[in-house]
Amino acid sequence: MTDLDERQSESAPWFLQGNYAPVQNELTEFDLQVTGAIPPSLSGQYLRNGSNPKSGTAGHWFFGDGMVHGVRLEAGKAAWYRNRFVETTKLAKGLEATDPETMFDPTASAANTHVLAHAGRIWALEEGHLPYELNAELETLGCDNFGGKLTTAFTAHPKLCPETNELHFFGYSPVAPFLTYHVLDASGALVHSAEINVPAGTMMHDFMITRDHAIFMDLPVVFDLSNLEAPLKWDDNYGARIGIMPRMGTNADIRWFEVDPCYVFHPLNAYVEGDQVVCDVGRHASMWRNSMEDGEPCYMHRWTFDLASGAVSEQQLDGDSHAFPRVDDRVVGLKHRYGWGVAPRGGGSGVIMEPGTVIRWDFDTGTQQTYDLGAQSYPGEFVFVQDDDAAGEDEGWAIGLVYDAADDSSDLVILDASAPGSEPVARVHMPQRVPFGFHGSWVDDSAMG
Ligand SMILES: [Fe+2]
Repeated sequence: MTDLDERQSESAPWFLQGNYAPVQNELTEFDLQVTGAIPPSLSGQYLRNGSNPKSGTAGHWFFGDGMVHGVRLEAGKAAWYRNRFVETTKLAKGLEATDPETMFDPTASAANTHVLAHAGRIWALEEGHLPYELNAELETLGCDNFGGKLTTAFTAHPKLCPETNELHFFGYSPVAPFLTYHVLDASGALVHSAEINVPAGTMMHDFMITRDHAIFMDLPVVFDLSNLEAPLKWDDNYGARIGIMPRMGTNADIRWFEVDPCYVFHPLNAYVEGDQVVCDVGRHASMWRNSMEDGEPCYMHRWTFDLASGAVSEQQLDGDSHAFPRVDDRVVGLKHRYGWGVAPRGGGSGVIMEPGTVIRWDFDTGTQQTYDLGAQSYPGEFVFVQDDDAAGEDEGWAIGLVYDAADDSSDLVILDASAPGSEPVARVHMPQRVPFGFHGSWVDDSAMG
């Protein structure tokens, strides 16, 4: 039986089969093979985090140990590939994600959900714990609580304001305080923390900012600590509401708006237009109603909150499901024209479970265009990178990891963002299969000083 056969054993949970299966080797490889031409303007590192259980197994796709894969691009070359476990307390002690020690030790992060840079530092994030800092070669430096000031978890989806370089984030918890809003200034110092009142602890995976606001999604996936193996479930009685508050505000400043019950793992972006706050989000009609394995597909929706009248509207923007929506980092909190995501081939309801495509939304024209990377291609999240500082919102590159089931291999694929449907401009061939993962970032050399 080959390794792949074992990985595809029907007795394994789906999140350990095929390209979900973890890899154990930590490699360092230089001068990678490339098909096509890497744009010479790209000088930095593409980093991507994911769940990669060191023990080989975990109770849920979200529960494995964090492993960051990185590719350095410079001068038109792929200089190196590295993959490293994030060396957390959880990993060192061999803890399971659902062990009480893991749930209540703020350093016992899986550190598996996102990796991003702020204030010249790189962080591996998971929403239940403190962040872990990595160096530029992906070695773990340690866990940080910002001089003891941060006493809550740190979301895996902070929002970096492109105008102020503040990092807005929050922590949520199954026990009070259920929700706390925080801000790191441009130097990385924690300068604001404010508890926000919500009725219960809910899974608040992500949030939004505008130029003026922080926006919280209090949605009905609620903690149930009587079942630590599956501690979150849909609650028909919880309702759903969106909290909009001024940046750097407190609980006294927040306004809550009722919306139809739903779940949102990932908003695309939010912005202000006149009196209105516009939020484009990937909306699931429900999530984890019966177990932490079920859920309905994700469709792009637009919520509009009128701050003058209090009116709320909701509009579905497309008919194809998607995952991993992203905008150009330079328009986070500002009005966007384009969005990037991945979608199942033929518009099915699954995403990574089915061979897929990369999509580009154009919200000005209300259209969606597709990059088809091959019949057996499984793309993960794609991020947009501008060609230079003066480039427009579609003038650059979309970069992400793609698994090819035909030969059990992975490429870092670079797409021309201005030419939807075109062939990749470059494929950087990874020296090993890169398991499906979660989120990543382009860390430009200019961001690391
Ligand atoms: Fe996420």
